[in-house]
Amino acid sequence: MHILITGGAGFIGSHLTERLLSLDHHVVAIDDLSTGSVANIASFRSHPAYTFHADSIFNRHLMAELVDMADVVIHLAAAVGVKRIVEFPVQTIETNVAGSEIVLALASKKHKRVLITSTSEVYGKSTKLPFSETDDLVLGPTVNSRWGYACSKAIDEFLSLAYHRERHLPVTIVRLFNTVGPRQTGQYGMVLPTFVRQALTTQPITVYGTGEQSRCFGHVHDIVDGFVQILNCDRTIGQIFNLGNTTEISINGLARQIIDFTGSTSAITYTPYSEAYAPGFEDMNRRVPDISKAREYFGFNPTRSLDQIIADVVDYTRTSLHNHQPQSSPV
Ligand SMILES: NC(=O)c1ccc[n+]([C@@H]2O[C@H](COP(=O)([O-])OP(=O)(O)OC[C@H]3O[C@@H](n4cnc5c(N)ncnc54)[C@H](O)[C@@H]3O)[C@@H](O)[C@H]2O)c1
Repeated sequence: MHILITGGAGFIGSHLTERLLSLDHHVVAIDDLSTGSVANIASFRSHPAYTFHADSIFNRHLMAELVDMADVVIHLAAAVGVKRIVEFPVQTIETNVAGSEIVLALASKKHKRVLITSTSEVYGKSTKLPFSETDDLVLGPTVNSRWGYACSKAIDEFLSLAYHRERHLPVTIVRLFNTVGPRQTGQYGMVLPTFVRQALTTQPITVYGTGEQSRCFGHVHDIVDGFVQILNCDRTIGQIFNLGNTTEISINGLARQIIDFTGSTSAITYTPYSEAYAPGFEDMNRRVPDISKAREYFGFNPTRSLDQIIADVVDYTRTSLHNHQPQSSPV
């Protein structure tokens, strides 16, 4: 198939491209390199079945051409990372709402298969765990710009389902939980690459809040497996799926596991959310996916452990540090 990936030079986009090329698909990627990087695509940029456009999804003319030539569109381009979202709320909302609207409108016009990437953030402060796809979304007040990201992705979901129901667009929505692995950077507020880098450079490990909040970390290769499975399963059209790992760990536990793994002498320090982000910043205590729907529809089965994730991220970060490169991509 000819597959168009928006945000293809990002963390997940670059891993997904590698996998799709290995499966003999043709991949065209568009990325404005706002948080992605050419380093992420360096290993396959000259692949004969790969084309890269350093451009924005807001270039409607180019996007119309690319969508026209594609069999499938995988929409990953978005403003991401808690830090970036709090610092640049206008860009976040515009990219995630208006950008996705362009992708959906063009795909609908040509009746192309689309995968839209949403996020576990849409569950907000819900305390009904684990989160399943039809649960209520419990968001905080609009004065807290953190919820702008969740809302913008929720609008993407509403719009995708509206296109499906009204115009028969073959669309699937994936709600990603914390996805981690090589090439992810801590620059925009991602916890795992930040801790690994701090441990390897013997800097203090900076825990925000009490560290008792917990998350489930999924290896990017497991998530890419899920994307490929969805592409091969027409039953997923018009549906929403959680994709993530179900093993939960507190942020304190994560810091300790990284310190143990690396043998670092870094100390753990604590910073209140109000200092780390903005006054009034709200975090959610737990976030656990119910992945039974993904398992039932397409056999989704994340197998990579947190140990393996840490080992892969440590390898990648060691190489980056050795080459004196800044962390290459974001998230
Ligand atoms: N990594 C996670 O834990 C996670 C969790 C939930 C959802 N997601 C979603 O997955 C998708 C991919 O995220 P990621 O983790 O790979 O982050 P990423 O920042 O590495 O990828 C996003 C890519 O989109 C590009 N981009 C942004 N605006 C663009 C524009 N206007 N035109 C073209 N390209 C643009 C960026 O340069 C970047 O390469 C995003 O939609 C994100 O919301 C990721």
